[in-house]
Amino acid sequence: APLDIDPAAFDAGEHASYMLKEILEQPDSAERVLRGRLVERFGTAHLGGLNLDARETRAISRVKILGCGSAYYVGQMGASLIEELARIPADAEAASEFRYRNPIIEPDTLYVAVSQSGETVDTLLAVQEIRRKGGRVIGLVNVVGSAIARECDGGIYLHAGPEVAVASTKALTTMFLGFSLLALQLGRVRDLSIADGRRLIEGLQRIPDHIRQILGHDDEYATIAKQLAEAESLFFVGRVRGYPVAREGAQKFKEISYRHAEAYQTSELKHGPLALIEASVPTVAIVPDDELADRNVAALHEIAARGGPLVVVTHATVDLGDLTATRIDVPACERELDPILLTLPLQLLAYHAALHLGHDIDKPRNLAKSVTVE
Ligand code: G6P
Repeated sequence: APLDIDPAAFDAGEHASYMLKEILEQPDSAERVLRGRLVERFGTAHLGGLNLDARETRAISRVKILGCGSAYYVGQMGASLIEELARIPADAEAASEFRYRNPIIEPDTLYVAVSQSGETVDTLLAVQEIRRKGGRVIGLVNVVGSAIARECDGGIYLHAGPEVAVASTKALTTMFLGFSLLALQLGRVRDLSIADGRRLIEGLQRIPDHIRQILGHDDEYATIAKQLAEAESLFFVGRVRGYPVAREGAQKFKEISYRHAEAYQTSELKHGPLALIEASVPTVAIVPDDELADRNVAALHEIAARGGPLVVVTHATVDLGDLTATRIDVPACERELDPILLTLPLQLLAYHAALHLGHDIDKPRNLAKSVTVE
């Protein structure tokens, strides 16, 4: 099968695991996915493989994103980017569920399949179902010539390079940047101004350096991760742009540390999970410096008041006041791009927790890199 990657064929080099190697490769893979695709002069992106002309682009009335696991969560981040930049209604759905509800396929909807391997059968079958009903699908795929890539009407290759560890890291960064490029191109054919397009391009060009900066704080994350690893159960919370970040953070944590990690919308805490908060249940909170920061901090006070330990992934400009919390600051960038930088420390928290617990980092129990059965 094309997907049976032989880890021996790749070299983790001086790194203890492929996951760490792949985490550290992210500045380079981020540069690769952007290379040659930013058109500064017109403040837009150039994605030759989309096979969509300007008229077809203008006719899109909705975007539906499909993927599984981490690809699904990054799809949620992508949906926000498309809504914000292109002002097209967009949402993401688990590809594993989509087919089973006899979905209504609309001619003016652009379907987007996201997959590192390009072989995940749930995603592939969703693509086939859409195309059978006459829908148009583009792929955001890493592996060139893979089944999903071949099945789509067009797409964006992610150029992340081979990813061996089951827990996806560098592919995920390139998926997010791929969505940024797609949103930019769709936006510039519609109502996004050239000034906003250029602002975003400059922001994208700075992302690889921001990633380098975050990875430089690895020691800090290792210390925090060891404390989190002691907990049997954790919450990851965020809202709006921060919510898919929380979902991805919880996913990574449970995949390799085998701890129960549950993602929740910060705003929904008071409607249930607050009952579970106590000194033995830490919460990792995503609090970007945006219009919701104050509300987020207020919700975190409710956790602190119940003795819940807090790790806050945020920006240096966010004032946590007298909140008792360990903070992780990520560099400020264009707001739309915040999710990817907020995700990076969460990868390293999961990695160090699993390392501390002595687990097989690259091959977590019960999981496969690419799931080719339904
Ligand atoms: C498996 C892996 C996940 C991955 C998902 C989608 O479930 O365990 O880590 O996110 O497949 O994989 P894909 O290759 O389609 O991105």
